[in-house]
Amino acid sequence: MKGIVLAGGRATRLRPLTKVTSKQLLPVYNKPMIYYPLNTLIRGGIKEILIIVAPDNAGDFLKLLGSGREFGCKFTYEIQEKAEGLAQAFLIGENFIGNDNVTLILGDNIFVDDFSDSIQNFQSGGRVFAKKVSDNDAKRYGVVEIDDNKKALSIEEKPENPKSNYAVTGLYVYDNSVIQKAKTLKPSDRGELEITDVNNLFLNEGTLDVRFVEGPWFDAGTFESLFEAGQFIRNLENNK
Ligand code: G1P
Repeated sequence: MKGIVLAGGRATRLRPLTKVTSKQLLPVYNKPMIYYPLNTLIRGGIKEILIIVAPDNAGDFLKLLGSGREFGCKFTYEIQEKAEGLAQAFLIGENFIGNDNVTLILGDNIFVDDFSDSIQNFQSGGRVFAKKVSDNDAKRYGVVEIDDNKKALSIEEKPENPKSNYAVTGLYVYDNSVIQKAKTLKPSDRGELEITDVNNLFLNEGTLDVRFVEGPWFDAGTFESLFEAGQFIRNLENNK
């Protein structure tokens, strides 16, 4: 299993915080944001990790994270020239992934759960991780509708009228076919290769598995959620 942390994008929603640095380098209490998703992969037992960054601050990521030796891993770096979607990670990462399976995590997603079982025992297909959110919040995310047996019925990206309250969080486990699937995608209306379209390809094949995030989850891409995530980590650290 290989790992990818996608830390691209321009994070215009967080201006002026992101005018001279990357969102994923901003502090979340006592660590730069990217430490949290990296740790989620490392705790999941992944040793080879590709870090995809935007061109502007690429050097800062290298300076911060280095070769990965300090983390007991090997880090590789690639650049995403433009914010052309999460699914582009599999095109940029094609050589890095090789013939392996791959776990993708978004550089602004903060989880507390230990996903080692879901990552290490993964066989094939696609696996997404859902978290219940409020009615209002669902519109901000990919939304998965599930039946009584917790099987996925549909996945929609930022729907106007969400069919459920289950947000698809920014952690995805795929078999190697994800590379070929990503190659068939066309940019969406917002000009991006959508991860939701990748998930729908697995869903249509009948190989998409939904797991649930039990602990807290933050997508730290807004002022509110960035602040909440910092507060949460502070409490966690102080109660250790
Ligand atoms: C992206 C995905 C969305 C997912 C979210 C999780 O949204 O497109 O499906 O629910 O990450 O953080 P974006 O960050 O592009 O708003």
